Amino acid sequence: MTVHFIGAGPGAADLLTLRGRDLIAASKVCLYAGSLIPEGVLAHCPPGARIVNTASLSLDEIIAEIAAAHAAGQDVARLHSGDLSVWSAMGEQLRRLRDLGIPYDVTPGVPSFAAAAAALGAELTLPGQAQSVVLTRTSGRATAMPETENLAAFAATGAVLAIHLSVHVLDKVIADLTPHYGADCPVAVIWRASWPDQRIVRATLGTLQTAVGAEMERTALILVGRTLAAEGFGESRLYAGDYDRRYRPVGTHPRFPDTGA
Ligand SMILES: C[S@@+](CC[C@H](N)C(=O)[O-])C[C@H]1O[C@@H](n2cnc3c(N)ncnc32)[C@H](O)[C@@H]1O
Repeated sequence: MTVHFIGAGPGAADLLTLRGRDLIAASKVCLYAGSLIPEGVLAHCPPGARIVNTASLSLDEIIAEIAAAHAAGQDVARLHSGDLSVWSAMGEQLRRLRDLGIPYDVTPGVPSFAAAAAALGAELTLPGQAQSVVLTRTSGRATAMPETENLAAFAATGAVLAIHLSVHVLDKVIADLTPHYGADCPVAVIWRASWPDQRIVRATLGTLQTAVGAEMERTALILVGRTLAAEGFGESRLYAGDYDRRYRPVGTHPRFPDTGA
């Protein structure tokens, strides 16, 4: 018996890995984390599977479900939205399972920041513009931010910011970031990336509040950074015709000579 933690992706049912799909199909029990898991993903559960929405359960109750499946020798598919490495509450579940000696494995999923960038048709890292993406959030009721992890500190680096769980405090996000990036810095808010009702607002830090208006839906990602509207960036050296590399040696003295092996 194994508990399979599976990243269920950002929303579109076909943005699930083949491994995730097969593990769901092979598990007699499926525990899923609320409305962000699409029905199309749950449709992979086998006939007769026990399917439980854990949105209203406490950690103790979730672990009790898993312990019951363990006692019955039944595999569990444990689904969380996006990828499990960020804001999934997987860490505390794994710790309990280790204490109980219940085996588990982890299958990654498509994170929402990647789905949001795809919706924009954007590469977030562009030569000479930005080479780092910070996945972050603002303080919530359930989770406070460590003191040193604040938007201003990240903004000081000029990196692209992918701000989660924060569209309800958009005014504060704009106020914190404008001194660092400037009011003309491109921004995009992507609601429910990859869902059929996906919505995108592109603006600048100076125009974002008006552009977003009174939108209430909270499942949204805020992307901030110069690369979102950059046109005059350089091309990557990797594909330059004169760039000598292992799979395309160039020049009279290539760095990786073809040994003929
Ligand atoms: C609890 S976190 C889960 C993050 C998830 N583990 C991931 O890999 O993206 C929920 C937040 O992720 C973002 N999010 C999740 N799915 C999204 C989607 N389809 N479109 C836009 N933002 C999304 C929103 O900021 C939302 O408030």
